[in-house]
Amino acid sequence: MKKFISCEDAPDFQLLIAKALEYKSNPFKDVTLGKGKRMGLLFLNPSMRTRLSTEIAAKNLGMDVIVFNVGQDGWALEFEDEAIMSGTTVEHVKDAAPILGKYFDVLGIRTFPSLKNKEDDYSELYINQFVKYSGVPVVSLESATLHPLQSLTDLITIQEMFKEKRKPKIVLTWAPHVKALPQCVANSFSQWVSAWGGAEFVITHPEDYELDTKFTKGATITHNQDDALKNADFVYVKNWSTFADYGKIYCNDPEWMLTHEKLASTNNAKIMHCLPVRRNVELSDEVLDSTSSLVTQQASNRVWAAQAVLAEILNRFKLPVTGNGNPETGKL
Ligand code: CP
Repeated sequence: MKKFISCEDAPDFQLLIAKALEYKSNPFKDVTLGKGKRMGLLFLNPSMRTRLSTEIAAKNLGMDVIVFNVGQDGWALEFEDEAIMSGTTVEHVKDAAPILGKYFDVLGIRTFPSLKNKEDDYSELYINQFVKYSGVPVVSLESATLHPLQSLTDLITIQEMFKEKRKPKIVLTWAPHVKALPQCVANSFSQWVSAWGGAEFVITHPEDYELDTKFTKGATITHNQDDALKNADFVYVKNWSTFADYGKIYCNDPEWMLTHEKLASTNNAKIMHCLPVRRNVELSDEVLDSTSSLVTQQASNRVWAAQAVLAEILNRFKLPVTGNGNPETGKL
């Protein structure tokens, strides 16, 4: 694996999931794998779970880790090629990324979408520029359109919890929110569940909240939340802003909040959310505080997902010990 920015970069889901669960039962089994390797965690946006779980995962593998809040502490980066930098940006990613590639053996990057320009966001310009110019493996810590470490965690949690021989019914339901949020988690979860193929997958949302169809292939899509929830084994709750008329909040109907009452028609469904969650807006207290909620288990599994991905990167590539150069070619 030379990058991890989408489920397409994961060569074998089941292997990654099995590896993650091995790490969960024995976190330090590969504590020397990353010895002499350094990971840079670069944040252009806030994070709690991703930042801490990835740092713990890298340290469990013996890596050295440096966190850099680029958005807060670094120079304002320019990402457009051939930009005339007479505005607010101070340093081009073309200059910064190769330096980071000298300092680090693996880079983790968190960026968010602008939610203003769909074409720019969906081209994944920011993370792709780091992939292009850093010369080292790049792990997405959430990008403009996807959140692969979260989705891998979600599949790990589902497989950990579901032991029946049949396929589980998984429902992704839109929920209200006070802000326009990215589509990343919903896109990514849809992409991973569809590619996995091990579930009956239903997506439910109000009209006008259709996701990009390239991520929802194979899913049943309905605007009727009550119908969608019938016999569900897992209900994944998430808000997202509109995709077609990009980045807007159209309907914000509080009736879409998931409540205990709505779960009556499910198959004692387990409830998932990537967090952070707006209590009593997206999900009611009674649901979040019930034994049906998997949110803490889900967030704790972030460590094992990140550890499995980093181990795959460390195993597949002969990374230079000093952190210099391209891991594929070994060139400086
Ligand atoms: N779920 C998730 O990515 O959480 P953070 O934003 O806290 O990293």
